[in-house]
Amino acid sequence: MTSAVSASTTPQQILSRCRELVRPALAQAVGRLHPWPAEMAAFSLGWSDAGGTPAAGAHGKGVRQALTVLCAEAAGATARDAVVGAVAVELIHTFSLLHDDIMDGDETRRQRPTVWKQFGTGPAVLAGDALFALAVETLADSRNVHSGAAVRHLAGTLNDLVHGQAEDLLFESRPWTGPGAVQPQEYRRMAEHKTGALLGCAAGTGAVLAGAPRRTVDALTEAGRDLGVAFQIVDDLLGIWGDPGITGKPVHNDLRRLKKTYPVLAALAADGPAAEHLVTLLSSGRALDDLTARRAAVLIEEAGGRAAAMAEAHRHLDSARGRLESVPLARGAVGEILTLLPFLIDRRM
Ligand code: IPE
Ligand code: MG
Ligand code: MG
Repeated sequence: MTSAVSASTTPQQILSRCRELVRPALAQAVGRLHPWPAEMAAFSLGWSDAGGTPAAGAHGKGVRQALTVLCAEAAGATARDAVVGAVAVELIHTFSLLHDDIMDGDETRRQRPTVWKQFGTGPAVLAGDALFALAVETLADSRNVHSGAAVRHLAGTLNDLVHGQAEDLLFESRPWTGPGAVQPQEYRRMAEHKTGALLGCAAGTGAVLAGAPRRTVDALTEAGRDLGVAFQIVDDLLGIWGDPGITGKPVHNDLRRLKKTYPVLAALAADGPAAEHLVTLLSSGRALDDLTARRAAVLIEEAGGRAAAMAEAHRHLDSARGRLESVPLARGAVGEILTLLPFLIDRRM
């Protein structure tokens, strides 16, 4: 395909050009939904306010759709297939956020009420289901000879996502220390599933639709999975040290809810007084109040959890780069992917 983003120089330009490329087909797909879930989807995608009035600026970063477009291009997919893949991936991403915010009890995303908070839990579940079904339909109806394989690729992703979310929720009631404590290795597997699966799907879908060799599909999928783990670890870091005015989400929510995020697990894996004090704070069995959460954040940093989490994110980023170099791909597109990678780590939102 001809490069739709070849003139891009910064990560932000790459993201916004990909968003613009995908938006018409995404809007057309959402337009096929029942008007009520369509209204909730438009709200969630940042296209309108709660009353359905067009709004701008509340959209997400668009990392997944950009990764789909760029990796499709790298694997030699047509522009049409790249967009179809990106629409399916973005719909699944939006579905997963709608349901995740219910599971996590989170009331704010992208500086606005979450869909369940704004429209009610039942309607938000329904809107998520609608987006899920629409994603599958979009791929299945893509008039591409490889659409069956693309749907299977997506189905594997959805299974992985459920697996990851299940582990993430179950970790909440696991102890911080002792034989039942969550090991960093378990966290990594959970993150590979809950976040890595969808980024892997984003990276591999274009190659599937292009009928690329198995080796290429696998290398791109695994690169995306690595990026997903890096992305999740940074999400964890932003949940503790991010600026809510930029992330759009309240700070310390994960800490208050005793989520087993990577910076905390890495801090607890270190010996020393800060880690010991941290265990005491976390082990009361109750949700943390604001002051305790702030204290915990200081101790996590003192125990080295912040630095260890960043180092782990960088390891996954390097691994993704290696996978991208392991198979023949269109060099221009790979250049754009490489431009985007540091943003996934250095981002503030
Ligand atoms: C969300 O994970 C992953 C999925 C939607 C499957 P988190 O719960 O850690 O992410 P945020 O912080 O709500 O975005
Ligand atoms: Mg969440
Ligand atoms: Mg969650």
